[in-house]
Order: sequence, then C-alpha cells, then structure tokens
Amino acid sequence: SPLHPFLAALPKCEHHMHIEGSLEPSLLFELAAKNGIALPVDKDAAFASVESLHARYQTFQNLDDFLGYYYIAMSALVDAADFEALAYAYFAKAASQNVRHAEVFFDPQAHTSRGVSFSTMVAGLKAAQRRAQAEFNMSTELIMCLLKHLPLPDAMKTFEEAKGAGYFADGTFAAIGMDSSEKPFPPKMWEELFVAAKEAGIRRTTHAGEEGPADYVVQALDVLDAQRIDHGLRSVEDEALLKRLVEQKTLLTLCPLSNVKLQCIGSVAEFPLRKLLDAGVRFSINSDDPAYFGGYILENYYALQDNFGLTIREWEGIAQGSVLGSWCSEERKQELL
Ligand code: ADE
Ligand code: ZN
Repeated sequence: SPLHPFLAALPKCEHHMHIEGSLEPSLLFELAAKNGIALPVDKDAAFASVESLHARYQTFQNLDDFLGYYYIAMSALVDAADFEALAYAYFAKAASQNVRHAEVFFDPQAHTSRGVSFSTMVAGLKAAQRRAQAEFNMSTELIMCLLKHLPLPDAMKTFEEAKGAGYFADGTFAAIGMDSSEKPFPPKMWEELFVAAKEAGIRRTTHAGEEGPADYVVQALDVLDAQRIDHGLRSVEDEALLKRLVEQKTLLTLCPLSNVKLQCIGSVAEFPLRKLLDAGVRFSINSDDPAYFGGYILENYYALQDNFGLTIREWEGIAQGSVLGSWCSEERKQELL
C-alpha cells in the first residue's frame, strides 16, 4: 500500500503487549544457556533449536496451545538483567516503528511461582524503562496482569504484595489486568480483586472477548467495572454492547495478527475493523505477543491497511483515540496529540 511510509512514520501508542510475549527464540536460547535452564526437549522436540521453535510458532491451534509455549519460554528469565534485556529489546524495536508511548503487561505469578521475586522483575523492567525514556524519548508504563488459570486467592495475594510494596502508589505499576486462558474463567470470577483495586484507586483492564463470548465483555464492564478491554473482538456480536462501548469511550486494545494466529478469526480480512470504525468504538492496534505472532505493532497496522485500505483521515482518528485512551499524564497526552 502507498500508505506504508505514512503508517511507519505515524506516532503510535501501544497498549496491549505482554513483555514475556516479546521473548524471541534467539534470546530465549541465549538466556536458557546462561541460566542453566533446561528446555523440555524430551517432551517436545520443537525446543531443540531456535529454528525448530520458530517453525512451531507458525501454527497455533488456539489460545491455550500458544500459552503452553509462552509459559515454558519465560522460565528462562531469572535475574534482573534478563528482564532488562527482554524489555529493552522490545522498547528499541517499538521505537524503530515510532511507538512514542508503550504500556506493557507482565505476569508476575508466572515468575514468583519459580522463585523470582517482585523486586528482581521490577528492577530489570524499570532499568529498561529508564533507557527507553533517555534513548528514545518513549514514555512507558507497566500493567500488572493476574493469571485467570490460577485461583482467586493467588491473584489476591499477588495484588496485596504489589500494593504493600507501594508499586501502585509510587507509579511503578499503572494498572492491573487479567490474562491467560479465557473460556473456563469468566470475568465475574475476579470481582473481589477488581473491587479491591477500585477501592484503592487503581486502574483496571482485563482480557475479554478474545475466545470468549461478548457476554464476557459485558461481565467485565458490569461486574469488574473494567475501564478498558483487551481484545474485546467478540463485542461486535452484541449491538447493545457496541453502543455502550461508544458511549463510555471504552478503549478496546485490538490485536489483529494475534487473532489470526490463535484462530479466533480465519484471516485478517475477517477482522471486524469496518464494523468497529463505523460504530465509533475507540480502539488501538497492538501486537500482543510479537515474538510468537509474526509481527510487531507496525506489521499489525500494515496488515489492516492491506486488507481494508483505510484513509489517512481514518488512521489519524485511530491514532488520536489511542492517545486519548492512554494511561499517561494529561501533560504527556498533550505532547502525544
Ligand atoms: N497472555 C499472553 N498473551 C495472551 C493472550 N493473547 N490472551 C490471553 N492471555 C495472554
Ligand atoms: Zn494479550
């Protein structure tokens, strides 16, 4: 498309990417060797080499098939320098694609369960954030995600630990979110956590409507009072919900290449971009897990452009909505607009 150079130059915000999902096979093998972590090659031959793992990433049956690889790969992250290397590599790549503001998810329970402390993760991630600010003039935030496949008390304990350490009060974490396996774990299960976060004045988002139905998005709004919805793809199946998202200016953080790779949709052409645009829903376009899904943010923009041929004016509207939906200071918003 003749708009590719325009899209590359367009200042972008990213709101939906899991930092562990930017762990490229090459860095995974490097860190596993350094830390003496054995990958389960006896159980899955895909772990034999960078090439075989990369080949395995070309096809995922569904969300859980992907998550199996995602949680094993992140076990190579051990010390603060590993988290710094991971996050810095993502920030550098994002900066090269003109991301000016990035809000990054991480999954603390997947690390504390292996004996990696909160302070280790935070030290590494913060070091990378300082470098992104200094070297790329990129603003960044961390969103602490809790895992849906673990019990509520585990999420509560992790939330209380982060809150007790002052990570929300001091701005280290901008918000909480929820991710991992979706269908068996409807949003209403997490009411206690979201009530506690709201009472503490903490921002709230959750993955919903990726594989799960539009009703999970409704639950996220009704029961969790989520201020943002990650994916929300299947919201298009409920006209009343679409109207509500428009009225409330709720940001959907969409990830088209992820949706294709996880077989939520058959192809980018099936992505409901026109429906969301025409309804006036506020959304941003994001990479989700770029090391697994074959593209960073710009490849997601390109894929939409190649399939839907948006106008410059439409892209400018999307870019503006993604600034307005960002969790940064009002002052930073003005700079980004
Ligand atoms: N964790 C990492 N990527 C995810 C996704 N796309 N959905 C749910 N949980 C995730
Ligand atoms: Zn995600």
